[in-house]
Amino acid sequence: MVAATGGNPQWTSRFAFLMAAIGSAVGLGNLWGFPFRTGQNGGSAFVLVYLLCVVFIAYPILMSELMVGRHKGLSAIESTSQLAKDAGRSTNWGIVGIVGVVGAFLLLTTYSVIAGQVMAFGVMSVSGGFSGGATAGFYDGTLMPLMWHTVFMAMTIFVVAQGLHNGIERFVTILMPAFFFMLAGLCIYSLSTGASGQALSYLFSPRFHEVTPAVVLAAMGQAFFSLSLGCATMITYGTFLSREENIAQSGGVIAGADTLVAIVSGLMIFPIVFAFDLDPAQGFGLMFSAMPAVFSEMPGGAFLGGVFFVLALVAALTSAISLLIVAAIAGQNYTKLGKAGSAIVFGGLVWLVGASTIFISGLGANIDFIANSISLPLGGLLVAILVGWVAPSAAMRGELPNSSDRLFQVWRFLVRYVAPIAIIITLILGLDQRFGFGLNAALSSLAG
Ligand code: TRP
Repeated sequence: MVAATGGNPQWTSRFAFLMAAIGSAVGLGNLWGFPFRTGQNGGSAFVLVYLLCVVFIAYPILMSELMVGRHKGLSAIESTSQLAKDAGRSTNWGIVGIVGVVGAFLLLTTYSVIAGQVMAFGVMSVSGGFSGGATAGFYDGTLMPLMWHTVFMAMTIFVVAQGLHNGIERFVTILMPAFFFMLAGLCIYSLSTGASGQALSYLFSPRFHEVTPAVVLAAMGQAFFSLSLGCATMITYGTFLSREENIAQSGGVIAGADTLVAIVSGLMIFPIVFAFDLDPAQGFGLMFSAMPAVFSEMPGGAFLGGVFFVLALVAALTSAISLLIVAAIAGQNYTKLGKAGSAIVFGGLVWLVGASTIFISGLGANIDFIANSISLPLGGLLVAILVGWVAPSAAMRGELPNSSDRLFQVWRFLVRYVAPIAIIITLILGLDQRFGFGLNAALSSLAG
């Protein structure tokens, strides 16, 4: 039985799909988030917990999102509501898609502002603006951030407005191979000239005593964010998938590539961090102050800094594209707008909210909290419940025709029990970290 595709376009090739999905997953979260969280959470202890979260929780959810999308081939909201309907359940399960669409929208508002900063820093680096610590006016005040955010959203809208084939596929199939090439080059350079021994032991020598609830929370959040889960993005990319695609396998390729890029980013950044005696745990500053400072002191640093920020820009753009298309397709479904119109209108709204975060202090932080600590885990939890408890088991089995019964059973066990429990704990710990019920502290003292 072939599911109706509702005239949905399909990926032209497996390569195009993989580049788009890996492009979505690989973003600022890999280049900046992973190294900095590793730095803040005790190095290898974090890496180990992160790998466990990817394999046992994020990867099964990634498969689930692709399966849900392909099964119905409709927009994220309709795919989830219709799947529930097939099982004789309420179409209110469309809430899974709604949470995702809202999350994608919110995430993009702040993601774009940060990506704008990446662009500004790239230009500063190439123009030698970092020497002497000056920022040379490229990111001062509020007007410069507003301008860069505007440029970044314009690029994102430009790609998405041209649709799946002429826009997204055309860009990701060029940009992603270029990305891998630049990343490999910078990593080899950094390992061969920086403090690579120190970087390797920081990333990989086991320090289990440093695993605390806060480390687990950070690792779970990072795994979800990095694989673009809980935002209906992978559901949406799944709707363009052909029935021939092996979801267990391609999901593994996507999760593996994303994890590899995160670790290689760590191998690119930490040798420099240690060679210049920087603090590996300094967080946000690692990308936007430490690295530029270092580049300004390195021979050929203007060029290397330029490559570094172009790398980050490509990563951010291919992720932003996948966030906007979620909102654009949902918009197309519920309004009379065509694909270009919807990309422009919803991209414009994202731009407006993002611009407001530049002028209203605290707004960006609140949006970040709602998107990252609530919407993403909630979206993931709902997907797990939808595929594990609501959807007909046979329909889900039909989405993994090439996988053995054993693999299907393992997947089903993970999405029914392991993922929901882990995500609920993450949600509670995340709320605690923000509002301080004292849970994190109590758990840490128990563990200690
Ligand atoms: N995965 C992206 C990164 O690592 C960010 C991200 C999170 C994302 N959720 C997403 C991107 C959903 C696209 C869609 O930077």
